[in-house]
Amino acid sequence: MLLGYVEELKKTKIQCINIEEYSLVLIYQSSQFYLLDNLCPHKAASLCEGNLKGDEIECPWHKAKFDIKTGRGLSPLAGNGVKSWPLTIEDGQLSVALT
Ligand code: FES
Repeated sequence: MLLGYVEELKKTKIQCINIEEYSLVLIYQSSQFYLLDNLCPHKAASLCEGNLKGDEIECPWHKAKFDIKTGRGLSPLAGNGVKSWPLTIEDGQLSVALT
């Protein structure tokens, strides 16, 4: 599934991506893209409205923290974390295989 052109997507550090039934957050940090499920496992806030702090994204509501590289929960409210999706770049375009 095509997400867009790398040059365009890298202009925004955190963005909401809605594809079919998937709600995702695309993160661009230190010249790398990361794609995670968007909904916080605590009370379903949108992580794409959260804050990026180094390699962590912080939920906007109650500050649960997640590893942007793996989706792993880094604080108690983050529970088991969120799913991380592998990305590919080809011909300047970013894609994900949603399964
Ligand atoms: S909804 Fe994310 S920490 Fe509560």
